[in-house]
Parts: sequence; structure tokens; C-alpha cells
Amino acid sequence: MMATSAVTCRVPFVDAREHYRRLKPEVDHALLDTLARGDLVARQQLRDFERHLAEYVGVKYAVGVSSGYHALHLSMLAAGIGPGDEVITSGHTFVATVSAIVHTGARPVIVDVGDDDNIDPAAVVAAVTARTRAIVPVHLNGRVCDMERIGEVASRHGLAVIEDSAQGLGATFDRRMAGSFGTAGCFSFYPFKALGCFGDGGAVTTDDPDIAQAVIRLRYNGEDRETGEYHFHGYTALLDNIQAAVLDVKLRHFPSWVRHRRAMAAMYRAGLADVGGVRLPVVDGDRRFDTCQNFVIRADRRDELRAHLRSLGIETLVHWAKPMWRHDALQLPDPQLPRVERLCREVLSLPLYAEITPDQVAVVIDAVRSFH
Ligand SMILES: Cc1ncc(COP(=O)(O)O)c(C=O)c1O
Repeated sequence: MMATSAVTCRVPFVDAREHYRRLKPEVDHALLDTLARGDLVARQQLRDFERHLAEYVGVKYAVGVSSGYHALHLSMLAAGIGPGDEVITSGHTFVATVSAIVHTGARPVIVDVGDDDNIDPAAVVAAVTARTRAIVPVHLNGRVCDMERIGEVASRHGLAVIEDSAQGLGATFDRRMAGSFGTAGCFSFYPFKALGCFGDGGAVTTDDPDIAQAVIRLRYNGEDRETGEYHFHGYTALLDNIQAAVLDVKLRHFPSWVRHRRAMAAMYRAGLADVGGVRLPVVDGDRRFDTCQNFVIRADRRDELRAHLRSLGIETLVHWAKPMWRHDALQLPDPQLPRVERLCREVLSLPLYAEITPDQVAVVIDAVRSFH
């Protein structure tokens, strides 16, 4: 939720107006051309974007759906997950990861994170039972989970791996892209993701033709659009053609945006390295290429620091202040995860986006330093 707008902030958390201003000629052309052709549902623009996304991620198929949530839900259904199954995922994630499991009828088994704030492979091993059907690693903040160890557990027990890559587009582990390791990769194009559209959007990536075909039918009410046959009760969850047209334009810019994000993250690191009471995100060298979807610091006096930054016109966000299982209505048993509980007390996301300037990053650094 945005607390203030780009107009009133010295450094907004994201700047949608500047983002649009820079891309206006290309985006306007894509939008107007799509509208002029009357290409509204499942037309060439969607197919083009799906092809380009699959190429970028390095998989055979990409299927556009209406959100990251739907990417998760439909790929789990396509993998045959349902009532009686258990699905292991991280306690430090957006609620949609867990809701998607719940809506298949399976039981979410929520485990703790490691030093990288991503799912701890040792905790996954400990959580496997005879009912486990899948693991959902979440590549949080643009950093890929330890997919070597996750892959080992999965193949040892014959489990599906549904990667929650909502925050992971472009990030790699051992040079392989998020969304290319598992049974399926699930992306979100929510407007403030590193690749975002002008509303909700998502995609499933996979090398498995059966998964791709099942998701293509599930997103369209179960129908095979060539034959008109309904194969099951499905959903209305197609990526809008007009969003696909915009995403196809933006995907061309995406690698340069990642470079900028990484440069600005490096600037934060250098400027905040010696600040007491603040811990910087873990970097672990050669195996990973992070896209810095978010720059998340951990602060002992997080809420006071956040108020201090707000008073200086700097917008920050907290992902997430309360673990899912403390929201009573979700009816999730408390999995007793001390690391996740601690993250909820300490995490603070600083502004980081494709348009942020070095001057703005310097303003944030000075403001954090002035608090400490
Ligand atoms: C880790 C994670 N999983 C799932 C989602 C769900 O994506 P969407 O908002 O597109 O449904 C998001 C994004 O909001 C996310 O950050």
C-alpha cells in the first residue's frame, strides 16, 4: 500500500509516473495499436510476450495468466495437487503463496528461512512426510533459493517443485534463471514488480507440455479453444492481451533495469555498511545473480527508523509486519518459526526502482545515517 504519492515525497517507494513518462512513446504505441486492431483477448500480442518470456527464462513454454496468485494456483492444480496432499513452503512470503496452496485443498506446511531470508532447505528436509506432494520455494526480493538442495530433496522424494518466482524474474542460481528449475515457475507482473504491467498479470513457465496445456485450459474455464471441449471446471484467469502488449515492450528494457537496480543496491550497501543497528541483505558470492527486486535492511529500531525516514519525505514499506499465522481469520496453525518472527520485527524495504537516481539513493543513505 502506498502511503504517499510521488508528488509529496522526496523519495517515493516507487515512481509510476516517471516510469510511464520514460516509456511513453513505446507504451502508447503498443496500447493504441492493440486497441486499433481490436486485439483484446488471447491474440498475437499475448503469444509474442509468452514466446519472449519463455526465451528469457530459458524454458519451452510460458503461459500468461491474470496474476501471480493464479500462476501459483493453476500450476499446482496442473501438477495434480489437491485434498490430502501437503505442500511445503516458506514462512516469509506474501500470503498469496499460501492461499494458492489452501485453495487447491492441500495443507500448507510452513517452514523457516535461512540466512538469505529464503526457505531453509534443511527445514524442508525435516518437513517431508508421506503426504508431501510439492515444495514451493519462494525467490524473495530477487534472490533465488538454494535450488541445488531443494532439487535434491524433491527428486529423492518424487515431489513437484512449484517456484514462486513472483519476485524472481531475471535472478539466477548457477546461471539458471528463476522459473526454470521446477515443475513450473510462477511470475507476477503486479505494477510494482521489477517487470510490472498496468494492472494485475502473471505467467507460468515450464518445460512440461502437459503442465503448459493444463494451465492454458485452466485459465480459460477448462476449454480447449481449438476443439471447444471443456476438460474440467476451470477459471477465468487469462492475461489480458493489452497487458501482454505492454509487458512485451517492457521486457526489452528489463535487463537494463536490473543493471540499474543492482548499481543502486551496491550504492546502498557502500553507504550503509558501517551503520550500527542496521544489517544489510546477505550476498553470497558466485552462485547467485540477484535482481534486487527489493532492498531490504534489518533494523533494531525499525518502526522508529521508518517514522524518521517518513518525516524526511522518504517512503518505505514493511514486508511483512505480522506473520501469516497471526492473522486469525486465515486459520493457520502457528508453525513456531523464530527467524520469520524476527524478520517481521526488523525488515524495512528502502526505495529501489528502475528510475531511482543516485541522488535519491544518497538522500536515503544520509537519512538512515542521521537516525543512527
Ligand atoms: C512472493 C510473492 N508471491 C506471490 C505473489 C502474488 O502475485 P500477484 O499479486 O500478482 O497475485 C506476490 C506478489 O504480490 C509475491 O510477492
